[in-house]
Amino acid sequence: MNLQLLSGESFSISPGQTILDALKKAEYYLVASCGGKGTCGKCRVRIVDGRFEAKGFGKLTLEERKKNYVLACQTVALSDLLIEIPEDSKLTVGDKIAIAKGVDLFNLLISLGGEISPLVRYIDLDLPPPTITDNIGDLERLKRALKEKGIEGLRFSHKFLTRLGTDLRKNNWKIRIHYADCLGCTSGYPAFETLFISGHKDSKRYGIAVDIGTTTIVTYLVNLDDGRLVDGGSTYNSQIRYGDDVITRIIYATEKKGLEELRKAVVEDINSIINLMVERQSINPEDIITATIAGNTTMSHIFWGLDPSSIREEPYIPTINSFPIWRAGTAGFIINSQAPVYTLPCVASYVGGDIVAGVLASKMHRNPEIALFMDIGTNGEIVVGNNEWLMTAACSAGPCFEGSGIKSGMRATKGAIEQIRFNPSTLEPEYSVIGDSRPIGICGSGMIDAISEFFIHGLIDQKGRFIKGSSPRIREGEDGPEFVFYEDGIKVVLTEPDIENIMRAKAAIYAGVSLLLKEVGLDLSSLERVYIAGGFGNYLNPKKAILLGMLPDLPEDRFVFLGNTSIAGAYLCLLSERMREEAEEISQRMTYMELSVSRGFMDEYLSALFLPHTDIDRFPSVKGMLKLATK
Ligand code: FES
Repeated sequence: MNLQLLSGESFSISPGQTILDALKKAEYYLVASCGGKGTCGKCRVRIVDGRFEAKGFGKLTLEERKKNYVLACQTVALSDLLIEIPEDSKLTVGDKIAIAKGVDLFNLLISLGGEISPLVRYIDLDLPPPTITDNIGDLERLKRALKEKGIEGLRFSHKFLTRLGTDLRKNNWKIRIHYADCLGCTSGYPAFETLFISGHKDSKRYGIAVDIGTTTIVTYLVNLDDGRLVDGGSTYNSQIRYGDDVITRIIYATEKKGLEELRKAVVEDINSIINLMVERQSINPEDIITATIAGNTTMSHIFWGLDPSSIREEPYIPTINSFPIWRAGTAGFIINSQAPVYTLPCVASYVGGDIVAGVLASKMHRNPEIALFMDIGTNGEIVVGNNEWLMTAACSAGPCFEGSGIKSGMRATKGAIEQIRFNPSTLEPEYSVIGDSRPIGICGSGMIDAISEFFIHGLIDQKGRFIKGSSPRIREGEDGPEFVFYEDGIKVVLTEPDIENIMRAKAAIYAGVSLLLKEVGLDLSSLERVYIAGGFGNYLNPKKAILLGMLPDLPEDRFVFLGNTSIAGAYLCLLSERMREEAEEISQRMTYMELSVSRGFMDEYLSALFLPHTDIDRFPSVKGMLKLATK
């Protein structure tokens, strides 16, 4: 039988097979935190056509059931099926792009002088078995052997000692002691702590690096012996169902008492990715012995179950900036429960460990040139500085470039229109779609291309409003005028409210950058390098972003695209002590500026709410282009 997706792909499904299994067999993964037991409710799909039998509906609401949503793990096909998979049910695991980037990441580590020194170290010991004459206790025997190797001061947890006798004898006294080396950590964690015992050489050592984004979660599985990226995966952060941005999540956590619910949602998302990676790589989850987390301040707080309420109340103070090392068991990860978890330090309430990770990966903190780092994710954080000083601010740009709040918006994944160009003679859009499939939506770089093309070809005015009659593709939609890119079962459009939303975001970013530079007595032309991180990857066309008025009008060769620097920084810190120390140092060195209380911000923001800006002299290259276009 045939299992067809609304987006076009089709797979086979056998009688009695669940939708989840049929998709998995075709390497199309859904979020399945409970492993298909029907309890987590994350594998939701909508049946558009066909007969089916559902064994249970688990957490699905009545409303969802009325709309024909089912749990993929509990539903079998009775005929050919046509289904729709919501974005938040999709899991992307181990794609080739992630693996390729892993190679670059290792080179980045080497270029930064980072050696492989994860939080968990080991030492092989060959203990003499006890005899009638050498009859000291097991722990004393272990301590004696460690002392002979020059290791003293290790702390032994109760859990470790409950298994010591068995582990020593099981391994015939030839053991590998794995211990956490937290010397130099800013935490309350003991400097050295034994974690567990394995046999000589038979231990495999893996770690996971996690980027907890407000919208997306990325997890890498890394070999701790050679630094190799073994697998990687990403999914939507399922906290999205409680709100798109950090503020609504904080409100849910505090006013609705939903902190634990939010915490579980993100941990389950990460566990889903881990589950699939260990299955694919035939790895024992117990062999994953350390982890690193990079996230914004709110995400890091929620992940550890810390009250985030003061983050949104003046004077905006988080509970923790520099996190202790806690255990994976405390977080609820399905890896070795003793694994120490390093959390990248935050700077302030709205500049978190993801930005510290980004600065680390960009190397701007080591170079004398004045650079701007921008992470255009859900929030829009910026850092200006060099090897002597670093200033930072958050711009509240909102999550539109990641697809939220945009009618056909989506992440930069398969099916997203990522590049758009208008044919100058026909004014018809020519676009490229990620994965060369038919379009199902439009991602951040596509939105920027679209608006700048609309503007330069006279389809919208300076305020971003459609000009009537300028294109037959402009129609009246349910949200007002919209431009239709594609229509065939699925409609991909950009509406006037979408454009307004994007213009607000770009104005916030531009105003934030101008103000931060003004604060240190510099202007935009002093920027020697602009590092751009975020979901745009390498697709963002700087010329188009300048035309939109989002990026400063600088020569193209000053822009460097870095992709997801949060996961890059998490990977660096997972592997290297030097990188962890540098991350701590960066967070200490950054001076945070609170834009929301800055007097000049509103003026800058309002002036930037035009295309490209009310003061066109700030955009000389666009001025020239517009002159040419009107000739
Ligand atoms: Fe958890 Fe289906 S309900 S995988």
